[in-house]
This record gives sequence, structure tokens and C-alpha cells, in this order.
Amino acid sequence: MKKGRFIVLEGGEGAGKGMCIDYLKEQLNGRGDMIFTREPGGTPIAEKIRELLLSKDNNGMLPLTELFLFCGARAQHVNELIKPALENGKKVISDRFEDSTIAYQLFGRCRGELRDVFNSLNNIAKDGINPDAVILLDVPVLIGLARKRKSGDGLCTRFDEEKVDFHDMVRAGFLEQYQLAKESGKNWHIVETTVMTEQEVKEKVLKIVKKILEE
Ligand code: TYD
Repeated sequence: MKKGRFIVLEGGEGAGKGMCIDYLKEQLNGRGDMIFTREPGGTPIAEKIRELLLSKDNNGMLPLTELFLFCGARAQHVNELIKPALENGKKVISDRFEDSTIAYQLFGRCRGELRDVFNSLNNIAKDGINPDAVILLDVPVLIGLARKRKSGDGLCTRFDEEKVDFHDMVRAGFLEQYQLAKESGKNWHIVETTVMTEQEVKEKVLKIVKKILEE
């Protein structure tokens, strides 16, 4: 049977994930075995949870509620979509997964004490499914936020409206996850998006993805 593959793109605001995913879709959709999805979301119920999480009407949401909802959306996404797809030999590419929760809900919200709660919930939610590879798109916060504003989809969600300090912590969270992953031999790649042109970034991500798909 064909082997399923699970690849995740991660990064802070304006890092270029959307641009890379559009390019990957354009280049890989013809294969017929690709599934592109996103978190929070990816299934009808998880998309409803996404609306709750991102809506600017919900500024009073507690960090704990936020953590539970992201994990709830993940449980739905993994069990309804990702797991069955991988079992059928599909190649799944997700715009964000568990490392976003570490970066945003633990680092961004400065709630490191929720780490154990996160680990327990997340392990239940992901039901044994781990990414085969993670590609982290990294960009300095101010450049990323400026890019997002310029692209016209800035300030759309509750997270876009957070202060620079929040986004600095998110970036620190991603970079720490990258270090830890490398030390433990996980298949993580970092793409520094400010030292390359947009085309070079897209080509680099495509090259990494193609290599993983061939393995
Ligand atoms: P989105 O507009 O899709 O952002 P982006 O284009 O940057 O991916 O909104 C998703 C938001 O949800 C984004 O700000 C990051 C946040 N998020 C978390 O805070 N925790 C998570 O676990 C996930 C998956 C996303």
C-alpha cells in the first residue's frame, strides 16, 4: 500500500505560508493524491470552532478556553480528515498544526504553566498522528506584520490585533521548537524568508516537499 505523508507548514504572521501553499497546490495538485488543509479548521465542525477562535467579537476569551478550543478543533480535524487520509496513502499538507499551539497559546500568551495540560490534551487530540516533516517559515516580526498589512489581509483576526510583544514571543516559541526538534533528530526545516526572493522561497519549500514525498 502507498505510504501516507503528513507535512506541516508553520510560521508567524506574514511569514509567507499562504503564498507557499498556493504555489504547492499549483505545482502538486495534478498528482491526485494530495490533500491541502489547515488549522484551526479542515472539517465543517473544526471550521466552526475556527470562527469562534478568530472572531474579534471574542476578545474576552480566556487563554485556557483558547487552548481547549484549538485542541478540540485538532481532534476533529485529525480524526475526520488527516488520519483516514494517511491510512489511504494520501499526502496531507497542513497550514499549521500542534507547534502553532505551543507558539501562540503557551509562548504568545505567556502561559508556560499550561504545558502539561497542553501535552495531555494534544496527545489525545492528535491520536498518534505526528508530522513526517515540519517546514518553519521564519520572518522578523515587524517585517511579517508589515507584509500582512500590505497584502490587505492584515488585522482580520483576533491574533492579527495582538501587540508586537505577543508576536515576538510566538516567534521565540517557534524557534525554540525548531532547536528542540533538530536536537532530537526530527525532520524540521527552517526557511528564512527575508534573505530570498518570494520565488526562491516558494521553490525552496517545493523542493523540500518533493523530497519528502519521494521518501
Ligand atoms: P489565519 O488567518 O489562518 O492566520 P495565518 O494566515 O497567519 O495562518 O489564522 C489562524 C490564526 O490562528 C493565526 O493567527 C494563528 C492562530 N493559531 C493559534 O493561535 N494556535 C493554533 O494552534 C493554531 C493552529 C493557530
